[in-house]
Amino acid sequence: MAKRGPSFACQACGAVYTRWQGRCDACGGWSTIAEEAADAPLPGGGAQPKSRKGRVFALENLEGDSSEAPRTPSGIAELDRVTGGGFVPGSVILLGGDPGIGKSTLLMQASAALANQGERVVYISGEEATAQVRLRAERLGLAKSPVELAAETNVEDIIATLSKGHAPALVIIDSIQTMWSDMIDSAPGTVTQVRGSAQALIRYAKTSGASVILVGHVTKDGQIAGPRVVEHMVDAVASFEGDGAHHFRILRAAKNRFGPTDEIGVFEMTGLGLKEVANPSALFLEGRDATSPGTSVFAGMEGTRPLLVEFQALVAPSSLGTPRRAVVGWDPSRLSMVIAVLETHGGLRLGGYDIYLNVAGGLKVEEPAADAAAAAALISSLSASPVPADRVFMGEIGLTGALRPIGQVPARLKEASKLGFASAVIPKASVETATHTGLNVAAFETIGDLVASITGGPRPRRHTPDPKGA
Ligand code: TYD
Ligand code: MG
Repeated sequence: MAKRGPSFACQACGAVYTRWQGRCDACGGWSTIAEEAADAPLPGGGAQPKSRKGRVFALENLEGDSSEAPRTPSGIAELDRVTGGGFVPGSVILLGGDPGIGKSTLLMQASAALANQGERVVYISGEEATAQVRLRAERLGLAKSPVELAAETNVEDIIATLSKGHAPALVIIDSIQTMWSDMIDSAPGTVTQVRGSAQALIRYAKTSGASVILVGHVTKDGQIAGPRVVEHMVDAVASFEGDGAHHFRILRAAKNRFGPTDEIGVFEMTGLGLKEVANPSALFLEGRDATSPGTSVFAGMEGTRPLLVEFQALVAPSSLGTPRRAVVGWDPSRLSMVIAVLETHGGLRLGGYDIYLNVAGGLKVEEPAADAAAAAALISSLSASPVPADRVFMGEIGLTGALRPIGQVPARLKEASKLGFASAVIPKASVETATHTGLNVAAFETIGDLVASITGGPRPRRHTPDPKGA
């Protein structure tokens, strides 16, 4: 066997090198490469055991006895929605999120809810002393819950402790970056340690049937720190998002072997911990100034749940050679596209204007169906005519200026109607799907119809697009 020299691993992405270098070729990070123990197990490799004859095992058919994975609901509806109905025994979830976003708070509340149902729940904190965890539980009014608590970081000790008595229903490891294993020489927090510890804990989950949640730190650019391989090893990856300026938090699944990945759970951070938000639309429309020009409401979907959000636009004459385009909560290239379509097919001239677009409340909208709402806000701001306050918008805008059909129209309309909206702009192509709603439906075919409806004129041709800018 070839002799192995020291090994160097990138602490951001886990790439392995035989010698040190300043920049990681794999992820481009500077100064992220550190020396690690030479005999640390490499992904998919590790020390080769002596050759032995393989054991013959039975192969099975696809058809056979299997039941829907049994689940342990946490009792927190917004959390269960994201996991797909509860924790699956033997599964491992990696929960990422910015520091201070509320991961520990969420998991403490979930632990307490489950423990209160009589399940065994163990909360291992590698970051805080038990007194701190207890203090938080007290603040959350959960001090009486029978959650078993420890501040530990050694994986072997943790697994030995967990293996005593009957297997817990849920084990929280807060966080995986603080864990270390005796079997690995590297320092805690290094890729090798994180990977090795995760492996051991995953093996424990699979053999004992306990659900394990690993908390993972997030790097500056939003990746879960440590090797990406941990994301591949676990059954589900969830992230807890939100920004410091807003009090709501969103739990989102990025990968889920046992459930959907397009569902979100919405929470509100209060003085008494995280509160579930059963009606997020009302939260995102809170404090809306519907009478000013430049705002419109988008009837969106997050997974199977409709979500109404407000788009705000400011179109202001620019003093710059190249006008500013700034967008928060939406895709900048989509904004450029909508602007180009408004100019070419909507008869508007936006070239000399600075344009700002914001999704109110700090939500990030990714659906193409939001095009119409963004366009409505832009048209409204440019023409200084407010859109009706009780109107919602939905529709994708094509490069030809057509409003393209979108999905799940009834659910969107129903939500709008529930929140007191009276009319909706939808693409003409989707009109058959807009059955019974109680809403006044305006079916538009092109972006020209949208411009006309807001500016109040016939299909406007105020400016003929002229590439020479005459
Ligand atoms: P925490 O769960 O410790 O975050 P994480 O584990 O993701 O780092 O949450 C810490 C933040 O939450 C802290 O800034 C204070 C705030 N918080 C509240 O506003 N209310 C509460 O009841 C609790 C427990 C925390
Ligand atoms: Mg924490």
